[in-house]
Amino acid sequence: MCGIIGYVGKQKAAPFILEGLKRLEYRGYDSTGVAILQNGAFSIVKKIGRVANLEKEVAKAPLNGTFGMGHTRWATHGGVTDANAHPHLSSDGKIVLIHNGVIENYGSMKKFLLTKGYTFESETDTEVLCNLIAYHYAKEADSAEENRCLAAVRKALLHAEGTYGIVAMSVDLPGEMVAARKGSPLILGLGDGENIVASDVSAIVARTQSVVYLKDGEIVHLTPKEFRITTLDQESVAPFVDQVTWSVADAEMGTYAHFMEKEIFEQPIALENAMRGRFSEDGSTANFGGLNISAGEFRGIERFTFCACGTALHACMVTEHMIERFARIPVECDYASEFRYRNSPLFRNTLFFVMSQSGETIDTLAALREAKRKGYKVLAVTNVVGSTVAREADGGIYQHVGPEIGVASTKAFTSQLLIGAMLALYIGRMRDLSFSDGVDYVRALKGAPDLVRRALEQAPHIQAIARRYARYADMLFLGRLSLFPIALEGALKLKEISYIHAEGYPAAEMKHGPIALISADCPSVFFAPSGEILNKIISSMQEIKARQGRIIAIITERVELPAGLADEIIVIPECHEAVLPIVASIPVQLLSYYIAVERGCDVDKPRNLAKSVTVE
Ligand code: M6R
Repeated sequence: MCGIIGYVGKQKAAPFILEGLKRLEYRGYDSTGVAILQNGAFSIVKKIGRVANLEKEVAKAPLNGTFGMGHTRWATHGGVTDANAHPHLSSDGKIVLIHNGVIENYGSMKKFLLTKGYTFESETDTEVLCNLIAYHYAKEADSAEENRCLAAVRKALLHAEGTYGIVAMSVDLPGEMVAARKGSPLILGLGDGENIVASDVSAIVARTQSVVYLKDGEIVHLTPKEFRITTLDQESVAPFVDQVTWSVADAEMGTYAHFMEKEIFEQPIALENAMRGRFSEDGSTANFGGLNISAGEFRGIERFTFCACGTALHACMVTEHMIERFARIPVECDYASEFRYRNSPLFRNTLFFVMSQSGETIDTLAALREAKRKGYKVLAVTNVVGSTVAREADGGIYQHVGPEIGVASTKAFTSQLLIGAMLALYIGRMRDLSFSDGVDYVRALKGAPDLVRRALEQAPHIQAIARRYARYADMLFLGRLSLFPIALEGALKLKEISYIHAEGYPAAEMKHGPIALISADCPSVFFAPSGEILNKIISSMQEIKARQGRIIAIITERVELPAGLADEIIVIPECHEAVLPIVASIPVQLLSYYIAVERGCDVDKPRNLAKSVTVE
């Protein structure tokens, strides 16, 4: 949550920072601000609303300085006002600060600072930290320490409880910048005569592919030509310079109307990338390079626990189905946010997995840390290279689907489903899944991108359906077995981007309560693929129809529904069980997308949400 970017270089900072803020806007978009050091003072412009508002404001008084910082906010402490927007300036005018995270003990800090004469214009924890840095900065006036701002930030952070990714500058030290992180991501971009610090790679790739991922507890001092990383305890840290493999175009919308639309239609390629090089030579199983666990150890696993949040948890639930079905090992799935506090007993020989697109979701990270603290090995499925989850896990699998910018997860989700299915295959082949079943399974997975392409061809038909259903206030999503989590995902997708109340349920469970909601005003989306329980699903549909409920049926090609049962029918290709959830996700993604567009919603930046939830 919150996007931060700092620049020290030789070019005008403001245009680069504004461009970077647009790329970071998906992290939070309540308000934005920029601070540029020029003519011996900070010029600060802050505005509620989107970066576009800020741009208009900045255009009124050109900013020419070559050192500066910008912020796009997702409010935690204090409402959405210009005053609460970042950057914050200390009341003595010396320090400017942007912050992502929450300073939990800001109350006691503020009391102390009031006694020292500091004043406050906002309700934010950030302004308190900014003044605490200024307080130490003033005390450092005669310090022999190499850099006064660095020393002041370090001293202030030693008192800070909570999470932060921060960038600070002093008015007296042009060309110097200090950044630090604990619990909120920060990345350095190393340019030619310029250095950048940002919340994520998307803000940096326009300028450089060379990046350093800062770790928790690290603090960096930057100038246009140099950077030096230390720990809060002043230990030197040798940086590891990584090369980003994706380009600016990956983070741009191209000809699409929204990132979500682009990412939905990118799924065939995303799936190809996620599976590339991950099948065995004999074509009967999957291979993963980074698990850091031997086949023998895997063989000894008797139980899996998966933890995640939101869409990623739905991917875990499908993976549970696949592992139990094809590898016959019990799996438990848990909300990461609950697991961390529930102290639930874990069995011996349990392998713990987390899934997180961003790799920064605080609840998922906390679950990972809790499992590690209990002595369990933790593996991660994540999309963002160098993310905190990727670094802290004992091993894992990258999704390799490129940046996902739309707040509603789509291509990351289907690639998680693919990886979950590949894991089930990998484990299954160590146990009772035969060579020929393995070969069939691999063939099916390799066919997934084409099946998704065919499902995407339904887009115009689904758009027409969306027009007819966009004005309903409630909707149910009903599915069974591996498609129950896809029903949950369909409901989540619809509510997060269109604000229609939606619930996902196992289709047969519907009659134990939700059926009370059914009327002509509450349509149901049913997954009805071919298979042994199709007749049971049809019975559930009849129960809805008998109560005047409208039905949108998502069926596979071989299914024939009784005439008149469904009001709308979307046909997806017949496919192997392992691939079905991937293919079935496409129509619900498209339906939610087109309904949201029809309702005039801001699809990529739904209200109150942020892409990566780094606060509790
Ligand atoms: O980055 P993560 O996968 O850890 O994010 C988890 C959830 O916050 C995320 O999936 C959220 O539910 C999405 N907005 C759903 O579209």
